[in-house]
Amino acid sequence: MSAHNLLDDIERVLISAEQLQVRVAEMGHQIRNDYDGREGEMILVGVLKGALMFMVDIARHIDLPLSIDFMAVSSYGASTESSGIVRILKDLDSSIEGKHVLVIEDIIDSGLTLSYMLDNLRSRNPATLAVCALLDKKERRTAEVKVDYVGFVVPDEFVVGYGLDYNQLYRNLPFIGVLKPELYSS
Ligand code: IMP
Ligand code: MG
Repeated sequence: MSAHNLLDDIERVLISAEQLQVRVAEMGHQIRNDYDGREGEMILVGVLKGALMFMVDIARHIDLPLSIDFMAVSSYGASTESSGIVRILKDLDSSIEGKHVLVIEDIIDSGLTLSYMLDNLRSRNPATLAVCALLDKKERRTAEVKVDYVGFVVPDEFVVGYGLDYNQLYRNLPFIGVLKPELYSS
C-alpha cells in the first residue's frame, strides 16, 4: 500500500463530521414534524451517488413510516462544471403516484440537475414533491428551484466528502472539505 493519505489532498475542513451529524439530526426532526399526520405514503428519493451518506443518516432521524428509493442522474463529466445535460442513469423502482415525495440531494449548484429532475418527477403525479439538500451553493444558481430544506449554505468552492466526489474520489471522507486547488486545476 502507498502512504497516500486522503487528508493530504484537503486544503481545509468546511463542515466537521460533528457539525454534520448535529444538523442532519435537526433536519430529520423538522421533516418528521412537517410530514407527521399526512394522509398517504411518504417516500425519500435519494440522488445517487452524492446523497448516499446524507440519505442513510437523515432517514434514521425521520421517525415515520416511509420507503426509500434511489435515482441516478448525470449532469457532470469528469469536470467540476454542470453541462446542463441531464441523463437518467437509474430510474426509481416503483411508482410515486399519489405519494409524498421528498428528494434528498447532496448539493444544489446551478440547480439545472434538480430542475430537470423535479419536472420529471412532477409528471408522475405525486401528492406532494419537496426537496431536501445538505448543501446549497446559492451564488451559483442559474435555474429557479425551490429548496424546502437546506443543511448549510456554502461558498462557491469545490467541496468533497460525506458523499461528494471529485472524479469519484473522496466520497468516504467523514466531513465536508475543500480540495487543494492544484488537484483539479490541471
Ligand atoms: P447542478 O446541476 O449544477 O446544480 O449540479 C448539481 C450536482 O453537481 C450535485 O448533485 C453534485 O453531484 C455536483 N456538484 C456540484 N457542486 C459540487 C461540488 O462542489 N462538489 C462535488 N459535487 C458537486
Ligand atoms: Mg448529485
